[in-house]
Amino acid sequence: RTRIFSGVKPTGHLTLGNYLGAVRQWVEVDQHRADALFCVVDLHALTVEHDPARVRRLTRQVATLFLAAGLDPALCTVFVQSHVDEHTRLSYLLECTGTDGELRRMIQYKEKSAQAQAAGDGVRFSLLSYPVLMAADILAYGAHEVPVGEDQTQHVELTRDLAVRFNRRYGDTFTVPRATRPTLAARVMDLQDPTSKMGKSHGVSAGTVHLLDDADVVRKKIMRAVTDTGRDVVYDREAKPGVTNLLEILAACGGAGRAGRGEAVDPRELAGAYDSYGALKKDTADAVVELLRPLRERHAALAADPGHVDTVLREGAERARATARPVVDAAYAAIGLLPPV
Ligand code: TYM
Repeated sequence: RTRIFSGVKPTGHLTLGNYLGAVRQWVEVDQHRADALFCVVDLHALTVEHDPARVRRLTRQVATLFLAAGLDPALCTVFVQSHVDEHTRLSYLLECTGTDGELRRMIQYKEKSAQAQAAGDGVRFSLLSYPVLMAADILAYGAHEVPVGEDQTQHVELTRDLAVRFNRRYGDTFTVPRATRPTLAARVMDLQDPTSKMGKSHGVSAGTVHLLDDADVVRKKIMRAVTDTGRDVVYDREAKPGVTNLLEILAACGGAGRAGRGEAVDPRELAGAYDSYGALKKDTADAVVELLRPLRERHAALAADPGHVDTVLREGAERARATARPVVDAAYAAIGLLPPV
C-alpha cells in the first residue's frame, strides 16, 4: 500500500496557504487512498528564535486543527514529531550522508538565515541541518509520497538525493519518495504582497488569512487585498500577481458566485466571468468564509476536549514508532554501527 508522510511546523497559526497547499489534500484524498502519517513537526520550530510556551501551545493547536480539518485517526496517523525518537536518531545518519554544500544551497536556508542575521539572532546550527531532519521524517516511514506546497519541493528533492546516495553506498535501505502537490493553490501568495508566499511565521498579518480568523476578519483581509494596476481580471502571475492569487484561491475553493460552484475550476476560465476587481474579491471572500466555517466550528468543539486530542496523539505516536523503528534500525546496521549486543 502507498505510504504517505507530511507535516506542518508549529511556528504560527495555520494559514489558508497551509490548508489549500497541503492539509486539504491530506483530508480529502490522501488519508483515504494510502497509509498516511501526518505530523506536527515541533523540532523544526526550534530552528529559529522561539518562545517555549508558544511552541507548546501551537503544537497542540496545529494537532487540533488537523482533526478539525477532517483528518480521521481511524484512517490515518496523527502525531507529534518529538514524541518519536526515530526522527532524530535517523537525522544523524543522514547528516553523515549529505554535505555542507548541499545544505547551503537550500533557498529556505538562505532566506531564513538572512532573516535571523538581520534580527541579530545568530543562525542556529539546526537551521542549516533542517532539511536533513525533514529527510529523516520522510525516510523513517518509507514514504512513497510527500504531499506539500511548492515551497517544500527543493527539500523533498534533497531527501531523494540522500536516499539514493545512502542506498548506493550501504545497500537498499530507504524508499525514494516523491513530492506531490495540488494542481491549484500550491503557492498561495500574501494578500498584501502578492509576490511573496503567504506564510504563518512571517509577513504582515493583514496579508495572511489564518484558519481561525473570524468570518468578518477573513472578509476584510480579502476585500483589502492588494490588486494590480489596470482593471481587467486576467490570470497572469507576472503582470497581475494580486488578481491571479485571488483567482487561484477562488478556483481552489471550487469557484462561486458568478462562475457558479463546481468541482475543479480553471482559474483562467474563472477570470472571464469577472469584469471588476470588486466582484472578484467579494466572491473570493464569500468562498473562503464558507470553506473555513465548518473547520472553525469543529475546532471549537475539539478545543473543549483536550483529552481527546491527547489520546489521538498518544496512539498516533505509538503507531508511528512501530513503523519507523525497524527502518531506522536497518539504517543503523547498514551504515556500519554494531547492533546493541
Ligand atoms: P510549513 O509548516 O511551512 O508548511 C506546511 C505545509 O503547507 C504548505 N504551505 C503552502 N502551500 C501553499 N501556499 C502557501 N503559501 C503555503 N505555505 C505553506 C507547505 O508547502 C507545507 O506543505 N518543512 C516543512 C515541514 C516539514 C515536512 C516534513 C513536510 C518538516 N518535515 C516532512 C513534509 C514532510 C514546512 O516548513 O512546512
